[in-house]
Amino acid sequence: MSALRVLITGGAGFIGSALARAHVERGDRVSVVDSLVAGRREQVPQGARFHCLDVGSAGLDKVFAGDGPFDVVSHHAALKDVRRALIDPGPDAEANILGTLNVLRCAADHHSGYFIFPSSAAIYGEAAVRPTPETAPIAPISPYGISKAAAELYCAFFARTRALPGIALRYGTVYGPTASEESEAGSITIFTRRFLSGRAPIIFGDGEQTRDLVYVDDVVQANMLAVERAPRPWAVYNVATGVETTINAVVRQLGAYTGSAAEIQYAGAKPGEVRKNVQDRTRIRQELGWAPEVSLADGLARVVAAYGGTPACPPAPGG
Ligand SMILES: NC(=O)c1ccc[n+]([C@@H]2O[C@H](COP(=O)([O-])OP(=O)(O)OC[C@H]3O[C@@H](n4cnc5c(N)ncnc54)[C@H](O)[C@@H]3O)[C@@H](O)[C@H]2O)c1
Repeated sequence: MSALRVLITGGAGFIGSALARAHVERGDRVSVVDSLVAGRREQVPQGARFHCLDVGSAGLDKVFAGDGPFDVVSHHAALKDVRRALIDPGPDAEANILGTLNVLRCAADHHSGYFIFPSSAAIYGEAAVRPTPETAPIAPISPYGISKAAAELYCAFFARTRALPGIALRYGTVYGPTASEESEAGSITIFTRRFLSGRAPIIFGDGEQTRDLVYVDDVVQANMLAVERAPRPWAVYNVATGVETTINAVVRQLGAYTGSAAEIQYAGAKPGEVRKNVQDRTRIRQELGWAPEVSLADGLARVVAAYGGTPACPPAPGG
């Protein structure tokens, strides 16, 4: 592929900034839009143009007119605090549904080539089938999941009616050293930092809830492959490992890596979070040739190392 013009919304956040870096390194012309409501300016890579802007604002048209036309619009901006949205779903709906509609409208009006939407396992809710395939019913149990499902449906609508081909990538729980502590994957950061400072990690619930943990570099790779290989005008893929891991297993592994003897503490479960999640990755493997390359053991070791730990010979985490 030759160099692309890419717009990444949410490019000052955890996944968006990793993606922006990968595109800059590939030689693409990258523009980033982020309101910095959760992201950090210093995460935007050198070489990317930065616009401090809300994706729902009228000013977005100017970015499309000035920096475009874009070959790829990668819409990673979203509010993703499941717990906060349970108390007040309004801001979440505004950013994630109306904000997405504004990005879609601009992308279609300014003749963008391709639209990438990061969806979520949250749209499946408590799925009856695990590993959950893309054909499972959409049944979110949280306002965040509802907002991602609604936005995904709008993306499909634009792909079919407004000549804006696109893709929904339904991520599992994405983790890595720079995950924000407010997010679900950020709990890995929190556990790590507590262990390294000699404090006990706190698990909300009994720790037997499960997640499909996918390392951020693998998610970036799935995004890159989508641009090249995904069928047009519309496709949906799980981006997950197919491996179901309990939070207890993750915390035990982090304890081993950090060499901490601190005892795990338990607190009441938080509402709105699914009990079990693991996603089927057959479709993305068969159609895009994507498979995760970073094992959980390796990924957790990288997080610990990023916070100054020196993980050595740890056991691999079990389910
Ligand atoms: N991290 C995960 O485990 C995970 C799982 C499934 C889906 N996703 C999706 O991936 C995307 C990126 O997630 P992340 O983990 O990098 O989150 P993040 O919070 O680190 O990044 C999101 C970015 O969007 C920006 N933003 C939020 N609302 C905005 C608005 N209205 N206008 C402009 N910028 C705005 C924030 O400032 C932040 O920089 C989100 O769409 C999220 O829903 C993430």
